Amino acid sequence: MKKVLVIGGGGREHAIVDALYRSPQVGKIYCAPGNAGIARQAECVAIKDNDVAALLAFAKEKEIDLTVVGPEAALAAGVVDAFRAEGMKIFGHSKAATRIESSKEFAKQIMEKYDVPTAAYKSFTSYEEALAYVSARPFPAVLKYDGLAAGKGVVIAEDLAQADEALRDMLLDSAFGHEGKVVVEDFLTGPEFSFMCFVDGAKVYPMPLSQDHKRAFDGDKGPNTGGMGAYTGLPFITEEDREFALREVLEKTAAAMVAEGCPLSGVLYGGLMKTPSGVKVIEFNARFGDPETEVVLPLIDSDIYDVFEAVATGRELSGPVVWSNDITMGVVLASKGYPGSYEKGHEICILEHPGRIFHMGTKATGEEGKYLTAGGRVMMCVARASSLEEARSNAYATVAAVKCSNLFHRSDIAHWAFEQR
Ligand code: AMP
Ligand code: GLY
Repeated sequence: MKKVLVIGGGGREHAIVDALYRSPQVGKIYCAPGNAGIARQAECVAIKDNDVAALLAFAKEKEIDLTVVGPEAALAAGVVDAFRAEGMKIFGHSKAATRIESSKEFAKQIMEKYDVPTAAYKSFTSYEEALAYVSARPFPAVLKYDGLAAGKGVVIAEDLAQADEALRDMLLDSAFGHEGKVVVEDFLTGPEFSFMCFVDGAKVYPMPLSQDHKRAFDGDKGPNTGGMGAYTGLPFITEEDREFALREVLEKTAAAMVAEGCPLSGVLYGGLMKTPSGVKVIEFNARFGDPETEVVLPLIDSDIYDVFEAVATGRELSGPVVWSNDITMGVVLASKGYPGSYEKGHEICILEHPGRIFHMGTKATGEEGKYLTAGGRVMMCVARASSLEEARSNAYATVAAVKCSNLFHRSDIAHWAFEQR
C-alpha cells in the first residue's frame, strides 16, 4: 500500500485527500499542515506548506511514495525541484514552470509568442510611462502586478484616478514588496470559467469545466474573494468552445512550455473568458483552483493515485482519465467580515446533511461534529446529483445543517447557469 503526503491545508487539499482516500492503492495519507476536516482521512503534520526543508525531511523519514502539492507558495518556493533532486516522487511543477502563474509577464510573453488567445498587453516598470499609456487608452483599464500577490495583484480601474492610485501602489510604494513591474491589458467581457488539466510535458488530460464566484455578495457584488462557490456543467460553454480551449489554450501552452525548456508537470489551470470574439485567457494558475477542486475532484472515477503518479514520473497513462457525467455544486461558508478582517474561534455544529463538507479553515474541538472557525473561508458544502437543480438544492440543504453564528454565504451560486436557460 502506498504512502502519500499532501502539502497544504485548505478546501482544495481536503478534496485532494478525499480523492486519494478512495484509491485502493493508497494505505496512508499525511497532510502538511492539513485542517480539522482533513484530519478525519489523513494524519495532519504541523509543517508549513512552504517549509521545503522540513517537508523533504519528513517525506524521507516516512518513506513517502508520492507527494502531491496543493498551494502555489510551495511550488514557487521550489519544493518540487528540492524533492526531485533527492529522487523523491512529487506531483507539481518545477519552480521554472510555475512562472506561468507566478509571473504575469512571463505568462503573457508565452501567450504572445505561441499565439494563445488573450487580451493585448504592455508591461511597465516606470510609473510615469505606465500612467501615460493608461491615460491614452479607454477605461476600464486592467492593471496586473507581476508576481504572486495572493489574489490582490489585479486592479480594474474605472477612471484615471483609480489607475493612478493602483500604479503608485504597485510601482512606487513597494506595497507588494517587490520587483516592481506591471502588466496593463485590454478589458475583456463575457462569462468566466475555469478549465483545469493534468499536464505531463505536452500530454494534457482535461478535467470537467467549472465556474468560480469571486465576489463576496449575491449578484456578483462586493469585494473580490478567494472564491465563494463553484459548480460544474456550464450550459453556456458549448462543446465547440471546450474543444477550442483545449486545443488553442491548454495543449498549445503545454507544448510551448516544453519548447521553452520548462515543461509542465502537474495541473495547468486556465482562467478563461468566453468573449464576443471567442474564448480567451484571463490568467493561468500552476495548481488546482480553490474552490473549483472541491466540485471537480468528487467527479473523478479513475484512480487519482495512478494519475498523480503517471504525471509525476512522466509515465504514459494506461487509458483516459474517466469522469462522471454528474453535476456538482458547492457553497462556501465564510467568516463575517471576510475578505476584510474577521473573528476566529466561533463554534460550528454540524447536523445531518445530504452533501459533502470540505473544510477550508477550521480547528478541532475534540468533540465529534463540532469545530471552531479558524479562517476567512471556513467550509464548503458540496452536493453531487444528476441535475444542477438537485445539486443546488442539496448543497443549500447542507449549508442549512451548519450551525454557526459568525458565518455568511452567497445564496445565488450557479446563477449564471440558471439565467442562461
Ligand atoms: P486574475 O487574478 O488575473 O484572475 O484577475 C482577477 C479578476 O479580474 C478575473 O477573474 C477577472 O474577473 C478580472 N480580469 C482580469 N483580467 C481581465 C481582463 N483582461 N478583462 C476583464 N476582466 C479581467
Ligand atoms: N478559484 C481561483 C483560484 O484558485 O485562483
